[in-house]
Amino acid sequence: MKNLVILISGRGSNMEAIVRACAHEAWPARVAAVIANRPDAAGLAFAASHGIATAVVDHRQFPDRAAFDAALAQVIDGHQPDLVILAGFMRVLTEPFVAHYTGRMLNIHPSLLPSFPGLHTHQQALDAGCRVHGATVHFVTPALDHGPIVAQSVVPVRTGDDAAALAARILKTEHVIYPRAVRWFVEGRLALDGERVTLAPPEPQWLFLDDTNANANLNADAQAAGEGA
Ligand code: GRF
Repeated sequence: MKNLVILISGRGSNMEAIVRACAHEAWPARVAAVIANRPDAAGLAFAASHGIATAVVDHRQFPDRAAFDAALAQVIDGHQPDLVILAGFMRVLTEPFVAHYTGRMLNIHPSLLPSFPGLHTHQQALDAGCRVHGATVHFVTPALDHGPIVAQSVVPVRTGDDAAALAARILKTEHVIYPRAVRWFVEGRLALDGERVTLAPPEPQWLFLDDTNANANLNADAQAAGEGA
């Protein structure tokens, strides 16, 4: 039985997807704790209501990043994690913290890395005129939003999309690829080879969401209802 510790900063919908998949697919793992850096992180309530231990390590109560990261690591390690999962955890982490969890810490980033690390990824993709955009699950290394790629999802960018529409389309795929990647880790199927990740036995480490037909159907429904496309 592997211990998972999930770090969140807000809504926690990726954490929720992982908690549900762990239970429904009967992984050989348990979510030992959900830890937030903000007391008002909405996801804490979901975790508590599912009988998961929760904790808050409020970054504002520490003089610097090093002190915060040291306190955070102490709380995490109290749960003896096999894997630390960053799920919308909006903190830049120090090198000693990252080094402590080398090979056992995953992150999800809402872009097709190595394009668009950092914030405002959806607007960056729109501004660059990208025709596809997506999300990446990767092992965490000291460089921000960089590290061996475990899984990626790809969605179309549509004319008229704004950052919110694109974010919503991608979030649906995050809820598929992140639980899948964590399950691969839990099953001991991921191996790191320098910058590359291998999955054994292999299966697709990508997801393409093309909901064009779904939209076409929606348009047809709208036309039938006299609303125009
Ligand atoms: C996700 O889009 C994730 O990729 C990004 O922040 C968002 C967090 O959403 N890092 P949630 O808290 O999991 O709902």
